[in-house]
Amino acid sequence: MHWEMIGFLYNRTTPFSMEKLLQYVIKTNCFCERDFEACCMSEKKITETANTANLQLGDSNHEFPIFDGTIGPSVVDISKLYAQTGRFTYDPGFTSTASCESKITYIDGDEGILLYRGYPIGELAEKSSFLETSYLLLKGELPNKNDYNEFVTSIANEANVPSQLHNFFSGFGEDAHPMAMLCGVVGGLSAYYHEATDINNASHRLEASQRLIAKIPTIAAMAFRHSVGENFVEPVKGLGYAENFLNMCFQKPTDSAPISSTLVRAMERIFILHADHEQNASTSTVRLASSSGANPYACIAAGIACLWGPAHGGANEAALKMLSEIGNVDRIPDYIKKAKDKNDPFRLMGFGHRVYKNYDPRATVMQETCHEVLAELGIKDDPLLDVAMELERIALSDEYFVEKKLYPNIDFYSGITLKAMGFPTSMFTVLFALARTVGWAAQWNEMIEDASQRIGRPRQLYTGYSARDYVAIAKR
Ligand code: SDX
Repeated sequence: MHWEMIGFLYNRTTPFSMEKLLQYVIKTNCFCERDFEACCMSEKKITETANTANLQLGDSNHEFPIFDGTIGPSVVDISKLYAQTGRFTYDPGFTSTASCESKITYIDGDEGILLYRGYPIGELAEKSSFLETSYLLLKGELPNKNDYNEFVTSIANEANVPSQLHNFFSGFGEDAHPMAMLCGVVGGLSAYYHEATDINNASHRLEASQRLIAKIPTIAAMAFRHSVGENFVEPVKGLGYAENFLNMCFQKPTDSAPISSTLVRAMERIFILHADHEQNASTSTVRLASSSGANPYACIAAGIACLWGPAHGGANEAALKMLSEIGNVDRIPDYIKKAKDKNDPFRLMGFGHRVYKNYDPRATVMQETCHEVLAELGIKDDPLLDVAMELERIALSDEYFVEKKLYPNIDFYSGITLKAMGFPTSMFTVLFALARTVGWAAQWNEMIEDASQRIGRPRQLYTGYSARDYVAIAKR
């Protein structure tokens, strides 16, 4: 990976000085100087168009390089805009801003395409396992049998959490939201591993990534068991990743029946669907937190906090609450009306997406999984599913939703599925965070390895007071 990456950087026209690159190479102790020269001559180059973007400001013309990726939109490198023009770009919500270069996940929102390292999400959901997909996201290629078995063993060996961490939970009331517990406990892992983690050392980063992937299900299950007042269940060697998680959540001392393979498969698939999603809000939070050099446990905790919001990962919990509030199909028109009313803050939870202006490909798989789980559990006429199906039918034919390209997203069907599996709504975003931890870890690694990345520090359009003198309180 280093050879390829350094070769890319050396051959790019972005102002990447050889000295800086050499410092990076030596700092990450990946090559001696001789190898560095050799790998910089590597054949692989990022495709760069000859063209540049011209910006006319008054009577001065400014040129900025344009870079093409493998697929998807090109980018205009405006990193020198302020130095050249004394002006910032302005893009609240970053609707037109690429924050980084990445090879991990590709989304085509118009076509409803989602690729993890080039593999379509539908194929991975159908044919892969969550740990195989995790390996792919982290390392860039699907593993051979030996590498896969070694990875699975490494994860299984790290599944337990430090025993003192159990006491952390006794500080939470039983009514504590599981996301609050997850946020606190994951951040608390820094207390055990911060000193031993050099984020510039690739093997330390892999160790931290695997540790987080291994421990997040255990911590998530502990948060669930605490919220329902039950004792913790330890991970069991020999159980698969999803099966172990379900066992830690639902095992009853008196019930040793194995967990249904349909439910295990559904859990695996739900984890795969949620594993990564390009530069979404929580991933960007992890990248920004990591850009200061903070330790990975604190950065992943920051991602969990951001994911909690109802506009983001909290939408699955909000969508199920909305379906329950609607209650029956007769009340749907009232809610569609509310969703369309500009003066009403109500949004149809589980609909719309910043990037997808077509059906979210994950929602399609999620809907299939929902039907499989309900069938497996013998749930014939779930009123919530009836409301969801009718709501989807109406919304997809309503001109407001069609014109604004608002389609169901991954959160629309996940809530019904997770509720049927026995999870309370308060656990839905916890499951999202559990699955997304591998995506956050992969993006974190990529950011640290990208020598062009620096501390993230956006600027602003200031519209406050200009300088003014202090007025004594007696005169105010
Ligand atoms: C996730 O980024 C990711 O990749 C996220 C995610 C991931 O895997 O990481 O995919 C996970 O977060 C999925 C999205 C889950 N959120 C929801 O389901 C909440 C409901 N959706 C909306 O809040 C909204 O659609 C967002 C937040 C998802 C997207 O917001 P945008 O891109 O800022 O779009 P917008 O708010 O500018 O909406 C554009 C228009 C507006 O109307 P106008 O001002 O143009 O008249 O569409 C309307 C909005 O009012 N609109 C909706 C709507 N979503 C957008 N109207 C009613 N119901 C909705 N759900």
